[in-house]
Amino acid sequence: MSNKEVFQIAIDGPSGAGKSTVAKAVARRLGIEYIDTGAMYRALGLKLLERGVAMDDEEAVRKVLAETEIDFRAGSIFLDGQAVEHLIRTPEVSMAASACSALPFVREKLVALQQQLGARKSVVMDGRDICAVVFPGARFKYFITASDEERAKRRYRELLEKGEQTTFDEVLAAIRARDHNDMTRAASPLVKAADAEEIDTTGMSIDQVTDYICDQVCSR
Ligand code: DC
Repeated sequence: MSNKEVFQIAIDGPSGAGKSTVAKAVARRLGIEYIDTGAMYRALGLKLLERGVAMDDEEAVRKVLAETEIDFRAGSIFLDGQAVEHLIRTPEVSMAASACSALPFVREKLVALQQQLGARKSVVMDGRDICAVVFPGARFKYFITASDEERAKRRYRELLEKGEQTTFDEVLAAIRARDHNDMTRAASPLVKAADAEEIDTTGMSIDQVTDYICDQVCSR
């Protein structure tokens, strides 16, 4: 692959499947940028939570959205000029992100932003609708999955490391609830795009998945 060619690596999949860890590792190895689209929905979810806006109050959500600036600086998410990575991984923000991501006018704005971010430079972008909606013309498309127990195990470990008080059963229930929201919403539900390659990471290491994707990119 020539260094000058701009290309996108699109990675979709359910929460906790390891997509962001793999996407980050692939970006680092190939020397291209990583864009975490879930962090964009999370940043908006955080702002809506902080403002006490109900997700079904369309007018209020539209108003907040119109006054919201989301960008990435050196790979980190910024909300209205503030670094918010450390605030957006809580269970409350996860649910708020899932709820606001179901609103078509929210998706419209964030998808347009994602398309701008990936248009001029090569990127690895992960999310739920990257292969089908954001970059249907992406050169490389993957759907990364793992069993729900495996995903809950990984998320539970992460939360414990961060010192969060939770139980495995709570994490598993939250993952299932979020999968249900993400797969059954009317606007761009989580589905594998017909032309995306499915990689089931249950029992695979991050390095194995990263090697697999990087080998494919480098050999084309
Ligand atoms: O990948 P994540 O768990 O950080 O994503 C947070 C929420 O945002 C998730 O519930 C689904 C939603 N999302 C989406 O609808 N579309 C994307 N491209 C990325 C995330």
